[in-house]
Amino acid sequence: MSAEVRPRRQRGDTPDTQRPECHPADVRAGLADLAHLGRAPSGGYRRFAWTREDAELRDWFTGEAKARGLDVAADRAGNLVAWWGDPDADGPGVVTGSHLDSVPDGGAFDGPLGVVSAFAALDVLRADGFRPARPLGVACFGDEEGARFGVACAGSRILTGALTAERAAGLADADGVSMAEAVTRAGHAPLGPDPEALGRIGTFVELHVEQGRALADLGRAIAVGTAIHPHGRWRLDLAGRADHAGTTRLVDRDDPMLAFARVVLAARAAAERHGAVATCGKVHVAPNGVNAIPSHVTAWLDARGEDAERVRAVVADVAGEAGAVTEESWTDRTPFDPALAARLSALLDDAPLLPTGAGHDAGVLAAAGVPTAMLYVRNPTGISHSPEEHAEDADCAAGVTALTAVLRELAGAAR
Ligand code: HGY
Ligand code: MN
Ligand code: MN
Repeated sequence: MSAEVRPRRQRGDTPDTQRPECHPADVRAGLADLAHLGRAPSGGYRRFAWTREDAELRDWFTGEAKARGLDVAADRAGNLVAWWGDPDADGPGVVTGSHLDSVPDGGAFDGPLGVVSAFAALDVLRADGFRPARPLGVACFGDEEGARFGVACAGSRILTGALTAERAAGLADADGVSMAEAVTRAGHAPLGPDPEALGRIGTFVELHVEQGRALADLGRAIAVGTAIHPHGRWRLDLAGRADHAGTTRLVDRDDPMLAFARVVLAARAAAERHGAVATCGKVHVAPNGVNAIPSHVTAWLDARGEDAERVRAVVADVAGEAGAVTEESWTDRTPFDPALAARLSALLDDAPLLPTGAGHDAGVLAAAGVPTAMLYVRNPTGISHSPEEHAEDADCAAGVTALTAVLRELAGAAR
């Protein structure tokens, strides 16, 4: 086990007579520690992979780990794990955590809640004198949202080999900067798979704010994940012909914005027809001038559903309208370990078992064969990927309490 580790600080005023617990203000205080990093004028966040903000978030994570005496291990895929104990000496560990990057103008909880709660759970365990029989790790996966380079869960996919180092290196952002170049500028070695680091993760548990309102409707604070629905991202290239907006006759126009409009409506109609969901949330217009008929429109389709067939049917309908689509990211239906989910549900007062349409690093690890579970914390409005995303302090504290119980159960107490 690594050097004696110290609780970072006891927040709240836990009387000596009570068992240590996470106070409702603890998680809010933890989130407040990083609230200024990557803050956008919208009140949301712009925390994109391999940027200055990303480096600041990594520094924050490392600072939190070191303040607790945890050893921080960086893997070759750009992810970080802060270890309490030595997974190389004492066998694969139990790892919990999430990501710190965001979608453009994302909320404060998607990702950071899982990381802050992981540190808080370790604080509670240590304050309680718990000594784990297995190493415990807090993970921070890189580039989960894929907001800059387009592929979701890039850090965990590169780690497991689901995204090859070659394809990852060649991904480019809106300015044409490749991931390889961005990684080098950030001072990191070229990214690649890391089977050794992956082998250190014996079990992974990700706590995440619910992205939906099932728990609000059920009147429960915590749920256990059962599966991630199939989902993917497709690029649509719609060509036109640049021309003057004011002098070109309508009959002479080849305006790709018309095709884009048809595609957007076709995606919604197909989603309704097939019982799926779909949106085109990102579009690039070239040259993007008010008085210029565009030469080209690039749009991205996000489509998801309870089974792959209906997602594929939506994409086929959209391709029929758009002419062609290019798949950039695909996640098949990913079940979490059912026995583990049932065990955790029972441990957590029969917490509801919920599937999700949101992708997570936990899904990538599960697909790579790591026994994996997810815990969801109630989101009263269900809103996510928005500055409006929110979770109540009491529910966040309940999340830490649940995660603490799960880590105690899975790591076991040293003899
Ligand atoms: O897109 C998703 O479902 C996740 O937020 N990356
Ligand atoms: Mn997200
Ligand atoms: Mn997330």
